[in-house]
Amino acid sequence: MYLVTGAAGFIGRSIAAELLKRGESVRGVDNFVTGKRANLVGLEGMEFIEGDLADQSVCKRVCAGIEVIFHEAALASVPRSVADPVATNTACVDASLYLLNEARLAGVRRVVYAGSSSAYGDTPTLPKHEGMLPKPISPYAAAKMAAELYMGAFARVYGIETVVLRYFNVFGPYQDPTSQYSGVMAVFCRKMLAGEQPTIFGDGEQSRDFTFIENVVHANLLAASAPAEKVSGRVMNAATGSRITLNQTFKALVKLTGYAGKPNYEAPRAGDIRDSLADISLAKELLGYEPQVCFEEGLRRTVEWYKSGGGN
Ligand code: UD1
Repeated sequence: MYLVTGAAGFIGRSIAAELLKRGESVRGVDNFVTGKRANLVGLEGMEFIEGDLADQSVCKRVCAGIEVIFHEAALASVPRSVADPVATNTACVDASLYLLNEARLAGVRRVVYAGSSSAYGDTPTLPKHEGMLPKPISPYAAAKMAAELYMGAFARVYGIETVVLRYFNVFGPYQDPTSQYSGVMAVFCRKMLAGEQPTIFGDGEQSRDFTFIENVVHANLLAASAPAEKVSGRVMNAATGSRITLNQTFKALVKLTGYAGKPNYEAPRAGDIRDSLADISLAKELLGYEPQVCFEEGLRRTVEWYKSGGGN
């Protein structure tokens, strides 16, 4: 049986949906701090437990009888972590350690962990490859990185198989567009479809390796089944290997949404990095990973989803 943490969140629900589609048994856990009950619609085949992983007894309960865990639960967002670094640490570090500990005690075979491209920090070298020294520049990045280190240590010390996938700016259907901490793509889609002016922090020339959700789901399923001797204890990027600026993204969305105005430019955000682009050769080599859906197609499908009322 598979466990998906953060199963009511954007990435967790997408992984759970794919597992169910493949006929697998799935248990999900979420505390609904950022996850949404509406995201569980369509996942009726999943056993669901409401609970907070920062509570060790919840971790123990959800790990019983599980073979593989997809650990997606987190408090995402760089600015949220700047506003409340302790909450980010509790949700991203404490909870991950408790989960790992109960996983090893329960005999879970493998944990696939949602790492973050923010680990690379604002170093000028592009593309970012896994051999580079991590340089977190926000509390969020530091927290995601700390849990990543625990993954490696647990593989080494206890023999539980762990695989870290460093996600690069994931977007797609089910990403929450309503919070002040929502990812830029979700915010822009919602606003531009509603005819509201989106805000670009900085000059809009910052770039990201925006990765459509299906590519990340694909990488997770490969990471769950790849041979342990190849992947256990390893860290790899999950992305597309290409980047686009926010100004270009805005233009692409103008075409898809019909928004007629211009963006509002404001001062850059604290903890922001300038450019982000992944080298995906390691995931290709170790997992046989290839991006399945290109940026344009992903953006088209994303806009369609928000257009049809998703995220409200
Ligand atoms: C960061 C991480 C990412 C992580 C995510 C979690 C990097 C490169 N990426 O994403 O791996 O999963 O946090 O939340 O560190 N922006 C606007 N207008 C808005 C909202 C955002 O201009 O309304 C800008 C931001 O200032 C930033 C860019 O868009 O420059 C992307 O922001 P966001 O979507 O929040 O993601 P990152 O902070 O890049």
